[in-house]
Amino acid sequence: MTIYNLGSINIDKVLRVPHFPAPGETLAADSYGEGLGGKGANQSVAAARAGARVVHLGAVGPDGDAMLRLMEQDGIDLAHVSRLGLPTGMALISVDGTGENSIVIVHGANTAVPEADVAAALAGATEEDTLLLQNETNGQAAAARAARDKGLRVVYSAAPFDADAVREILPFVSVLLLNEVEAAQLAAAMGKPVPELGVPHVVVTRGAAGAVLQDAGTETAFPSPRVDPVDTTGAGDTFAGYLAAGLDQGLGWQVAMGRALAAAALSVTKPGASASIPKAAEVSRFLHGAG
Ligand code: RIB
Repeated sequence: MTIYNLGSINIDKVLRVPHFPAPGETLAADSYGEGLGGKGANQSVAAARAGARVVHLGAVGPDGDAMLRLMEQDGIDLAHVSRLGLPTGMALISVDGTGENSIVIVHGANTAVPEADVAAALAGATEEDTLLLQNETNGQAAAARAARDKGLRVVYSAAPFDADAVREILPFVSVLLLNEVEAAQLAAAMGKPVPELGVPHVVVTRGAAGAVLQDAGTETAFPSPRVDPVDTTGAGDTFAGYLAAGLDQGLGWQVAMGRALAAAALSVTKPGASASIPKAAEVSRFLHGAG
């Protein structure tokens, strides 16, 4: 089984700051670094480190080679990543002393993904496969419709949140991932509670408080392991990639949710986005005390 992930690939430019600057303030950073990011790339890395076979669908520019090399190290299939004459997507990320972040993205190649390439890649998918998406590329609804028509599981992580983007893709989604703020925004935009939107499975993440699964008219709360946060960047992506991988691997919801929450908790104990995502063995040791 394969996870096809239509997702962004960003060069993350990360500033560690003593606090977030106020309007008009000039602030000296404590440190600066660059790494692989993008909600899409992070989720591909998470799913791959969880043990899934991952095919990434997306685009980079001439400056994207180093990011692709990092994705390759996790065994992600990049045959369907297009090389465009646009800059690779970029994120300017500030992380404060509590591990909280503030992110500004520049889409670059991420919103110029050739939709014919996505369609061609999905033509080879089967109903045992999964399509994973976030809201940092073009072509989401068309890909989701094509995947749903072929019987794939469609997992949509509604971030960065945009009500119109969710409305467009919603009819094709099997698993919808939101945080609490996004769930409230979606309910307000749609004029009804999220569990009544007709999506078979909705997962609402609640940061350190864990997550709630809403399906079949029931709500199940899952706690998150407690950790000391260093950098929360990419925690939601780690959760999404691990959850998609768990479902793809046939784990039940209980086990898949527990593993995804543990992976996300571990990711916030290290700096960086993709760089902080744990491998399956580390998650297993964390959960069970054995590799
Ligand atoms: O979710 C974290 C990610 O959001 C970062 O890696 C950044 O690139 C932005 O896409």
